[in-house]
Amino acid sequence: MTEIAARHYASLAVPRYTSYPTAADFSPAVGKDQYEAWLRRLRQGEPVSLYLHVPYCRDLCHYCGCHAKIARRDTVIEAYADILIREIRQTGQYLTERPKAVHLHWGGGTPSILGGEGIARITQVLREQFDFADDMEHAIELDPRKVDKKLCRDLAEVGVNRASLGVQDLNPEVQEAIGRVQPIEQVEAAVNSLWQVGITSLNFDLIYGLPLQTVATLRETCKRVAAFRPSRIACYGYAHLPARRANQRLIDTSLLPDADARYEQAQIVGETFMAMGYEAVGIDHYALPEDALAVAAKAGQLRRNFQGYTDDDCPTLLGFGASSISQFREGYTQNIADIGQYKAAVLSERAPVIRGYAFNDSDRLRAQIIEKLMCDFRVDLNAVAPGVNFSDELALLRPLSVDGIVNVQDAVITMAPEHHSLVRLVAAVFDEFRRECAHSFSMAV
Ligand SMILES: C[S@@+](CC[C@H](N)C(=O)[O-])C[C@H]1O[C@@H](n2cnc3c(N)ncnc32)[C@H](O)[C@@H]1O
Ligand code: SF4
Repeated sequence: MTEIAARHYASLAVPRYTSYPTAADFSPAVGKDQYEAWLRRLRQGEPVSLYLHVPYCRDLCHYCGCHAKIARRDTVIEAYADILIREIRQTGQYLTERPKAVHLHWGGGTPSILGGEGIARITQVLREQFDFADDMEHAIELDPRKVDKKLCRDLAEVGVNRASLGVQDLNPEVQEAIGRVQPIEQVEAAVNSLWQVGITSLNFDLIYGLPLQTVATLRETCKRVAAFRPSRIACYGYAHLPARRANQRLIDTSLLPDADARYEQAQIVGETFMAMGYEAVGIDHYALPEDALAVAAKAGQLRRNFQGYTDDDCPTLLGFGASSISQFREGYTQNIADIGQYKAAVLSERAPVIRGYAFNDSDRLRAQIIEKLMCDFRVDLNAVAPGVNFSDELALLRPLSVDGIVNVQDAVITMAPEHHSLVRLVAAVFDEFRRECAHSFSMAV
């Protein structure tokens, strides 16, 4: 591939494809009526995943791109917990039968801000509406700076069996530049407290492309992180969108690595983790060989949902809380992101759904193709969509094929291993909402 082509591809804005169609393509044409109708179709014992969004933190980290706001007063948090409970009970009114929860995930923000008591209270209300599978995965995102022994005991008590720790970077200068000072001892203390209560399935989150990060500092962070032996590590590319996220304006852009440096950093992350016994899973995850995610990846059963890569193959995901997304066999719905408006909707006994999407047959096929590409870096179009004509898409892929990024043979698309990081471009070819992106590939050759 020429340097011009590489730069052109790197400059294209493509979604992360945690869903297809992406949340940016949802419309107000699908709202609370569909949500209620789709809930009514869930059957007794049908597996569902549950997601609870808690959009609060005590402070905002400069780099944060999540749906998160500062809450300094406990009354704000307690009021939010009450609203979540109300939303869950209201949703329960539309369930004609009791589905079975096989996954429960607390995300944010910093969901542990609810405290052990708040989490237990909400979990109890979930139990009123859903049966919990005996082997349910019960996961929570934790900020190591806010983890103590009591919280860990409370989490274990309520059944939490997996924790995701936000580590980001361990270098003190980088931590200073991103507004998140978190010495390694704090991470170690959090890990020890979780282990002591039996929560041993751990994920660590890292970010590359941060201010002041270099290949050398990142390699050091990766080595120190891998030494904890978490079963999974995610390393995301820093998404800098200061026009949308005011907190990111605190990042000194002159200290950010350029596109070439980011590419090199992503390579080093992969090399370091693989050298330390981890296997690459998808574009940004690493897992120990015996971990369920690595096993699913090797078996071609890796999945992708709003939380990223997963071994969760549940067709239904019910999201609660401001901005959360639900997935049904029929389509997606999303809750209002503005916390005040979300609360007002719940208080007026309305499902707080603002927009969504109803699948047609073509969307279902495209969603499968895109998910296969994102998870396996390979898709057999004849197996997923027998008899469907993809000649337009195959024509759009030709520049990527000329550049050695993909190989297309008998409708089987395979990505070259050294170009896996460009998989979102290949996925965009099958995205009916992103045609302009694929049409611009030819500019690169
Ligand atoms: C909700 S946060 C994790 C939980 C907890 N609040 C914490 O910070 O430790 C989810 C993860 O998203 C990632 N993240 C946040 N902002 C990001 C950005 N702008 N670009 C890439 N990754 C980001 C971080 O790795 C973070 O740990
Ligand atoms: S990274 Fe975590 S703690 Fe920091 S602002 Fe975002 S959600 Fe809050």
